Amino acid sequence: MTAEVLVLPGEGIGPEVIAEAVKVLEWFTTYRDLELSIRSEPYGVEAYKRYGTLIRDEVFADLLQADAVLFGATGGPEFDALPREAKISGNLLAIRKHMAVYANLRPVMAYDELSDVTSLKSSAVQNVDLVVVRELNGGIYFGEPRGRELIGDGIERGINTLIYTTPEIERIARVAFELAHTRRGHIHSVDKSNVLETYKLWRDVVDHIGADEFPDVPLSHIIVDNCAMQMIRDPKQFDVILADNMVGDILSDLAGAITGSLGMLPSASLSDYDGNGRRRALYEPVHGSAPDIAGQGIANPLGAILCVGLVLEHSFDLPGEARLLKQAVRKVLAVGIRTPDIQTGNSRAVSTKDMGDEVVRALTRLSNG
Ligand code: IPM
Ligand code: MG
Repeated sequence: MTAEVLVLPGEGIGPEVIAEAVKVLEWFTTYRDLELSIRSEPYGVEAYKRYGTLIRDEVFADLLQADAVLFGATGGPEFDALPREAKISGNLLAIRKHMAVYANLRPVMAYDELSDVTSLKSSAVQNVDLVVVRELNGGIYFGEPRGRELIGDGIERGINTLIYTTPEIERIARVAFELAHTRRGHIHSVDKSNVLETYKLWRDVVDHIGADEFPDVPLSHIIVDNCAMQMIRDPKQFDVILADNMVGDILSDLAGAITGSLGMLPSASLSDYDGNGRRRALYEPVHGSAPDIAGQGIANPLGAILCVGLVLEHSFDLPGEARLLKQAVRKVLAVGIRTPDIQTGNSRAVSTKDMGDEVVRALTRLSNG
């Protein structure tokens, strides 16, 4: 059976960057040992205009069958203007939950080639190679009770709930420990256990999984405010950063400052393996829909293109091919080809499409040479 990649370009710059990612994926199916069917479906505002819903029921169901789902971005003024009910079923959070992709991996690499782009000192970010492991199916994003209510005298109250159970923490901790095994092998687990009970539990459970199942992996606990400061002060000290849903969201954007642009960051969200050794996987660039630059052809497609690398690695077990792609990206950056977000003095500003074409050319050159 041919493996299937389901593509949802989505909103804002999503369609522009995903077009380049698909181009790169097609290069692998055409020239390398990878057989795939790639199917694209409208998502979000575009789907709403055509079908009256963010995602058609049959496509929503297919998210569970696809070997990999490549998602562009969602959000923006047009999305905001949709009726409230229309924004609930099939939104990005509903997709993540439906697919049970609780393990969100956000690798952050400092490219030497971009050392002139980051606002941090290049000596501080050089050789940074870390991954944020973000819990994606729980925490305050999904906790009940939630909502807004009038409590009289024109006063309104907003409520959200930060909630985690032992098994939810255990499973994401295991992902982080297993990942650490394949890397330099150090985990920083982030919490705010000095103030909040949920994070006390988080810390206890992570400790317990470490001691019982991964005694050889060094584990440090770090309070979130200090972690944010340390990530800017000396990001090289980090290898695997384990965080809950909201903390992981915030720290992964912060990590974008290390690479120089949020436009560089890919992510993979993975479920557990089922009885047949399959797992669901959703790949998204971290940057989001960037409505302010949508449609201009200037968005950086490298986050989306690097998602293809994660697809090759995590869904098709082709780490060598993933490395080839990373090498191609480096080559393109090295010769100063840049989208505006990463452009500096003597580099050349190119369009989203040109950047995709350049990566494909670099792949061809690398595989021929
Ligand atoms: C991300 C984004 C999303 C999140 C938004 C778009 C809901 O910021 O993937 O980091 O908060 O998870
Ligand atoms: Mg975010």
